Amino acid sequence: MHLAHLRLRDFRNYPRLDTDFAPGFHLLLGENAQGKTNILEAVYLMATLRSFRGVGGAQMIRHGQKGYFVGGKVVGQGEHEIKMYWSARERNLALDNRPVKKLTDYLGTLRVVVFCTEDLQLVKGTSRTRRRFMDLLLSQTQPGYLPLLQRYLRTVRSRNALLRQPALDEASFASFTNELVRAGNELMAARRELIPKVSPLTRLAYRRISHDAEELRMEYDPAVKQDFAVELAQSRARERSYRATLIGPHRDDLRLLLNDRSAAQFGSEGQKRTLAIALKMAQAEYLTGIHGSAPVLLIDDVMGELDAKRRGGFLPLLERSRETSGQVFMTATEENWPRELGRDLQRWEIKDGKLGGRG
Ligand SMILES: Nc1ncnc2c1ncn2[C@@H]1O[C@H](COP(=O)(O)OP(=O)(O)O)[C@@H](O)[C@H]1O
Ligand SMILES: [Mg+2]
Repeated sequence: MHLAHLRLRDFRNYPRLDTDFAPGFHLLLGENAQGKTNILEAVYLMATLRSFRGVGGAQMIRHGQKGYFVGGKVVGQGEHEIKMYWSARERNLALDNRPVKKLTDYLGTLRVVVFCTEDLQLVKGTSRTRRRFMDLLLSQTQPGYLPLLQRYLRTVRSRNALLRQPALDEASFASFTNELVRAGNELMAARRELIPKVSPLTRLAYRRISHDAEELRMEYDPAVKQDFAVELAQSRARERSYRATLIGPHRDDLRLLLNDRSAAQFGSEGQKRTLAIALKMAQAEYLTGIHGSAPVLLIDDVMGELDAKRRGGFLPLLERSRETSGQVFMTATEENWPRELGRDLQRWEIKDGKLGGRG
């Protein structure tokens, strides 16, 4: 799968951009604050409809403008044309010139995995980032997962609204509780199945980039220990005083252990960073295995931060991408780009919101 064309209008610091990209390895070179990451952000946005910087649409509109446009052509199994426009008043998303009605019909058109400094939050951050990691992987591989997740989260919100009422409406509460348990059990089953598949990939990736020989363990850590319905009933009094649903997959976590100790609490900074990258590499490997072709890899700055030996751990992934006609976009500054990766790459110079080919 590759992005064959990218078109931007008033996106971040790009007034306009129209560029063709071949499959293969693209190096985006430039000084700081020239617009390298903005390109990756736009590609990620097309794939997931979110910014990997965790910001809303308004921030991506070029200063002083009303809306942005991001579009492109994706070549995979077939060819697809993506067009999205976002302004405070209007949001349009079209696939092959038809408005997208259901997100599940759209997501999967372009698959990406991003590597960025924020990934460190996978290890250091709250459980929310790790749930999102699981959810993103499942949404990218199971068509029914995202609607299920959305249904579950809607039910949590409705149930919490009831819990905030002065007098509890028992009948509605029971029906939301039923729905919560049904959807929640399905979510947990999907996550419970996922982790043993991703865990060996993460361990392998970790071993490839780590100098040391720590043993990595990755375990699904559900908030529900045995029986969701029973545990909900048991937390009823607490739920009433906190006015919130306190148990369920919206409180799940993923345990990351190095030599049986919490990586977040006891790992060194280097180990945490290595682990974060390993998780992303595992995500890319898993998607490649399921779909038979590599996702587009967006690698922002992280390569420059790694020493040559750790960078070498990326080579098998890049090789797999090449074998399946995949595509890689990697940003770097002129000083820190990893030259040993530079076999047949395409170099682009980025300066002040303009992209120039350098062959
Ligand atoms: N909404 C926006 N409108 C105009 N310029 C923006 C907007 N958001 C960010 N920028 C500009 O984009 C540049 C940063 O781009 P970025 O891609 O992060 O740089 P880098 O090349 O360091 O990765 C900065 O010059 C910043 O001022
Ligand atoms: Mg950047």
